[in-house]
Amino acid sequence: MRSNYHSVYFEISGFCNARCSYCHSGVQRPDKARFVSPELFRDVLYRLLAKNIICDKTVISLYNWGEPTLNPKLGEIIGVINDLGLRYAISTNASRIPTINYDFVRNLDHMIFSMPGFSQEAYDRIHGFKFHEIISNIDRIIRECRQHGYKGRFSISYHVYRFNVDEMKTCESFADDRRIRFNPYFAILNHWWEINDYIKGTLAPDRRAAAERDLFTLEGVHQVLRSAPKTRYRCPQNDYLNIDENGQVVTCCQIARDHPDYACGNANTDNLNVTLNKKRYQPVCGGCIRSGLAYYLNTALKRPSFYRPSIRQRITLLSLNLEKLSFSNLTKYAIKIAAKIRQQ
Ligand SMILES: C[S@@+](CC[C@H](N)C(=O)[O-])C[C@H]1O[C@@H](n2cnc3c(N)ncnc32)[C@H](O)[C@@H]1O
Repeated sequence: MRSNYHSVYFEISGFCNARCSYCHSGVQRPDKARFVSPELFRDVLYRLLAKNIICDKTVISLYNWGEPTLNPKLGEIIGVINDLGLRYAISTNASRIPTINYDFVRNLDHMIFSMPGFSQEAYDRIHGFKFHEIISNIDRIIRECRQHGYKGRFSISYHVYRFNVDEMKTCESFADDRRIRFNPYFAILNHWWEINDYIKGTLAPDRRAAAERDLFTLEGVHQVLRSAPKTRYRCPQNDYLNIDENGQVVTCCQIARDHPDYACGNANTDNLNVTLNKKRYQPVCGGCIRSGLAYYLNTALKRPSFYRPSIRQRITLLSLNLEKLSFSNLTKYAIKIAAKIRQQ
């Protein structure tokens, strides 16, 4: 049996309150979605630990499509993480502030703030929240975590759309002021059925036009599909274990809930050997790899080549990395950074 997955994504909330027009969970409200119970969460993790599928170094990311801070039992769920001696990560739209105390930060590995731009106009187009409230929530979350002794990494995942390129540097400066990582990458059409329709040419014309207007990642998609490695392509999704709030082991992070190959088995009740083996040989995977879609989806989330990090951002990254690096790696890293700065 496969052991020690690099990453585990455990959906603790099947719902999201953001209205992201290019994300599955913003467009559709799934039928069977619910919040994970602390009991199911504990049972599944306990089973994975007992079978050596995860270990105490595994970071459990408490999201896939949903908004983790909506789960009313988030505190108890983090209590399970603490009891089992695991570490966890959160990605949030920052519309809600969770209860932050010592237990919350104790095993927090990192926290991501997802942002669709840095203005009310951008938020009106994508998330639908009040921008000033999000900014104030991010500030409060950072402050309270640090007050409780958290020294780990915060980062902003800035989704780059054609309409928010001009706002990137203001957001970076916001990150620099707070000594947090600014991580811009291209937004994708984060919707299984729509990206498949787009590729086949069957996406509704108005939807297609809007997506092409807003997203960089549809430009040249057919070329990427044609040139993608197809034989012997090892989909990186094999290294991720994805579990939904019902305990189902999900085929990959992109597949839709109403796809017939969505789940491989239940991590709480089914034989884990069989379930994890099935995950590697789902019928949908062959077609996804042969069409080049797997390659496209795994490579589209790129950092824009036109983005140049500020000096303050480089220093922030350097200081965040310092703790992790050995002396020899540190020297190599410093040389690399110095060379990059000289190039500019
Ligand atoms: C669907 S979100 C769910 C977690 C949480 N609600 C959030 O907003 O971060 C999961 C991850 O997908 C990323 N994401 C969401 N929409 C995206 C898009 N259109 N393109 C690229 N990444 C996206 C987010 O930054 C987040 O890290």
